Amino acid sequence: MRMRRQGPSLVVDAPAKLNLFLEVLGRRSDGYHELETVMVSIDWFDTLRFTPVEASAGETLSIRTTVQGGGALSADENNLVLRAARRLRQAVPAAGGVRMELIKRIPWQAGLGGGSSDAAATLAALNRLWGDPLTAEELHRLAAELGSDVNFFLASTPLAVCRGRGERIEPLPLRRRLPCVVVLPPGGLSTAAVFQRWTPGRTPQSVRPLVEELAARGGRLSQVRLYNALEAPASELHPGVREVLQRLRNYGLAAVGMSGSGSACFGIAESHRRARRIARQWNAEQGPRAQAASTVL
Ligand code: C5P
Repeated sequence: MRMRRQGPSLVVDAPAKLNLFLEVLGRRSDGYHELETVMVSIDWFDTLRFTPVEASAGETLSIRTTVQGGGALSADENNLVLRAARRLRQAVPAAGGVRMELIKRIPWQAGLGGGSSDAAATLAALNRLWGDPLTAEELHRLAAELGSDVNFFLASTPLAVCRGRGERIEPLPLRRRLPCVVVLPPGGLSTAAVFQRWTPGRTPQSVRPLVEELAARGGRLSQVRLYNALEAPASELHPGVREVLQRLRNYGLAAVGMSGSGSACFGIAESHRRARRIARQWNAEQGPRAQAASTVL
């Protein structure tokens, strides 16, 4: 995430993510699934502004959300920012009032982690605004309570292997920016519904080959094999996912996959120019829109 001061306010650009690899290792007794996943941050951002206000009686934390391009945001997505703020405030009782403004650009229910990124931005910014009362470790504990992807964004790393239910982060450097083409099949997917449809039975795939390729200088990353164990259940719930993946392959993209629990699909191109050209050609046809993106370093 990128944080800057603007007068009395703190402004944060909160990125989206893509999963280059996602293996489900099994179902846990707490209802979650044990994961091994590789996440990268991309240059699609929500923007959050936090401004201290006089704490009057009643609610001292307020939020106003603007969705860019129109559309209504589900109460949940709004709530994740408010929940993060309230949770942090419980830990810092002397903290003052804050007005929060969220400009929402990252599509939701798409597996791009926008809501989790907003929550991580809220924890980091409010902690800064209130004089850094919590350590990084304490913030990570709150992040894990809020959602499985929040820790990745709080770590503010370009690349990480995430384990457990997703909250245990191994940050890794990324040698170069990966050019991507991202497509959203119409209609989102519920994370819980996709996980519920997942069935065990196969030998788990290893994350190693991908991590080694990402670490190798000059690796042909446009040829890397992406993997997502949730692709099958997501495609069953949303046939548009399979169609979009096939169409991305038809554009000559070798590395094609779905992010998180879907429904966003993406391909990695050889160059940013090629990614932009594919998005342009794709958008000349009917159907869901494609947009070029890039991982961030
Ligand atoms: O942690 P988060 O609130 O983002 O997860 C949303 C839902 O996705 C959970 O309620 C659970 O049903 C499912 N999930 C899971 N295993 C994970 C992460 C999420 O089953 N590791």
